[in-house]
Amino acid sequence: MTAAPVLDIHLSDDDSAEALRRDVRAGLTVAPKWLPPKWLYDARGSELFEEITALPEYYPFRTERELLRSIAPEIAGAAGAGTLVELGSGSSEKTRLLLDALRAGGELRRFVPLDVSESALRAAMGALAAEYPGLAVHGVVGDFTRHLELLPAGGRRLVAFLGGTIGNLLPHERAEFLTALHDALQPGETLLLGAGLVTDPGVLVPAYDDAAGVTAEFNRNVLHVLNRELDADFDVSAFRHVALWDGEREWIEMRLRAGRDMTVRLPGVGLQVGFEAGEELQTEISSKFRREGLAVELAAAGFTLARWWTDPDERFSLSLATRR
Ligand code: SAH
Ligand code: TRP
Repeated sequence: MTAAPVLDIHLSDDDSAEALRRDVRAGLTVAPKWLPPKWLYDARGSELFEEITALPEYYPFRTERELLRSIAPEIAGAAGAGTLVELGSGSSEKTRLLLDALRAGGELRRFVPLDVSESALRAAMGALAAEYPGLAVHGVVGDFTRHLELLPAGGRRLVAFLGGTIGNLLPHERAEFLTALHDALQPGETLLLGAGLVTDPGVLVPAYDDAAGVTAEFNRNVLHVLNRELDADFDVSAFRHVALWDGEREWIEMRLRAGRDMTVRLPGVGLQVGFEAGEELQTEISSKFRREGLAVELAAAGFTLARWWTDPDERFSLSLATRR
């Protein structure tokens, strides 16, 4: 018998609209202009991200998947989880490797995917419920920077946070996130963290600026979101996608560069915003990590790094950390 999937919605349309207005007011009225990355992921953005994962230049997805394939049984053995939680779950494609290994261990009862993208979450939940009869699927539409304390409790949880998404948070947001996650978990529960590692910029940069232009379209999609949600009039094609490696901060920075002077109206938030030719809007960072740094950050938030795995080229890592 399979129970019907459950879906908790912690982000109502009104909430999201209010949060978007707040972020736009804060980010487009300062220099340099910036927007938080979660607004990239409307239904179209989630589809474009799926296309990115199939690009030859985007090594993180394949690298993490192959690593996960080889170590999933070890993870399952070490975590012994009854509930798998996944933050920023998207299509949960790689997660099937974990679900399979946890099932083989015999204790897995429940899967809890959480994502801001309701469309991606619903699609993933439908597919998983069909593929894993008997598994209780409890989805959460929410923001992992705000709603961790609302995660369902119980069942000895393993929290997977894959795809290098942790790198999309700024360092102070990362520290707050890890502390909030610590506070939401019980001692002995575990975190499986997928993180991109510092590697050759000649490999890194093309992963965020592919030849086919899919990443550019993904980045520019945030302007379509503002046009639709705030009735704005961005000329989307007048913005160019820029991806830069900042070797000091060790992150990729994604920006949108205005091709000419322009004035953009955003009636939904009562703003009119000027861009000068060449002016850039910051949309996302993707931090790359080193083992020592991650271990220190995890320890500071109350986690102990228990296991560390990388691919042979050391471009991507999976860490298993225990909540103290
Ligand atoms: N875990 C998948 C997808 C990674 S893309 C993988 O490894 O391939 C990042 C995912 O996080 C997207 O599905 C996006 O919708 C989601 N996301 C981004 N910001 C979020 C936030 N603040 N809260 C919850 N989900 C978020
Ligand atoms: N978590 C992904 C990463 O940092 C997200 C991502 C991939 C992304 N490509 C992107 C975000 C391009 C913005 C633009 O690798």
